[in-house]
Amino acid sequence: MHVEVRGLNKHFGDFHAVKDVNFGITKGHLIGLLGPSGGGKTSILRMLAGLETPDSGDIIFHGQTVNSLPPQERGIGFVFQNYALFKHMTVYENIAFGLKVKKASKTAIRDRVAELVELTGLKGFESRYPHQLSGGQRQRVAFARALAPEPQLLLLDEPFAAIDAKIRQELRSWLRELIERVGITSIFVTHDQDEAIEVADEIMIINQGRLEQKGTPWDIYKEPKTPFVATFIGESTLIESASELKGFEGAGGGKPTKALIRPEYIEVGSLHEFKMASATEQGTVKHLHFRGSEWLVEVEVNGNKLVTYRSLEKETLQVGQGISVLVHRAYLFNDNRSWIQENRLKEDPMPVFI
Ligand SMILES: Nc1ncnc2c1ncn2[C@@H]1O[C@H](COP(=O)(O)OP(=O)(O)O)[C@@H](O)[C@H]1O
Ligand SMILES: [Mg+2]
Repeated sequence: MHVEVRGLNKHFGDFHAVKDVNFGITKGHLIGLLGPSGGGKTSILRMLAGLETPDSGDIIFHGQTVNSLPPQERGIGFVFQNYALFKHMTVYENIAFGLKVKKASKTAIRDRVAELVELTGLKGFESRYPHQLSGGQRQRVAFARALAPEPQLLLLDEPFAAIDAKIRQELRSWLRELIERVGITSIFVTHDQDEAIEVADEIMIINQGRLEQKGTPWDIYKEPKTPFVATFIGESTLIESASELKGFEGAGGGKPTKALIRPEYIEVGSLHEFKMASATEQGTVKHLHFRGSEWLVEVEVNGNKLVTYRSLEKETLQVGQGISVLVHRAYLFNDNRSWIQENRLKEDPMPVFI
């Protein structure tokens, strides 16, 4: 199902929880709704589901406004973190529940449950009760139950939040494959960026009720539209004044401008390694972490801690060693705008090594 949301707003008393949110979701896509707690993610989902009424705005499924449709007529399946299974019902009965409500025939129910038990890897568990299952198995029953009535849209609100890290990892790839196989349009809410990046086709970053950016994880990482998005996705260090950095003097035309530095924006080397002395900073190695295929280097420059990677092929650095740091580029922002800027003092796009 194609989903479109236009000008969505929601207040709780005086509090403006969802602020003029607009987006469209292509049929069959899995969208990650990512953002800090309290940002409005659950409120958006609840409005899509019809469990909450928007103050203004339209929710459009398949080109049809559904604002006045009750939840059960919207063709939606839910899996919520604490949307418990029915304790007194077996796995079979839990999965069959939605079909019984719809008054499907006994044979239709039996066939559909068998299909879902197969799809979710729950064969042999049909007659167990929820307390006889692990957390991961229970969430799989919750998925099967949500999918049974063949919804057009699947809403998942932090479905793995209560599950151990290791199992959560397995469930992520399992979910990704399941949704691909079923081909259902899905929205997956999480506050965990790794989870969103791994699972979703596209991510929507939600902060303080606003949709800050929508795009593929790579697009968002590469071209963050707001400082919030830049700091929220990926690793970075914030430098209060960009002008302090060599090659970035006067950045922002004299307006106070901050710089965000990602690990791949900088390069470190022993003092004789770079030729472009005018463009390099002096720093001290604070920590070195061997990561199997490279070094993760923490370096202090003018009181700022920067993090970067260094190839194993290069000369090995030592903790406490004075080194050169070349800031190739930085993500700069002030009150007006944000942009990525190259180091102006670099004569050459590539550093020259001796
Ligand atoms: N029913 C409600 N009544 C009052 N405030 C609410 C209600 N639901 C959510 N809120 C408030 O709206 C904000 C957004 O909440 P929510 O949508 O649950 O965010 P998220 O899911 O991103 O953590 C929070 O500050 C929350 O306290
Ligand atoms: Mg929530």
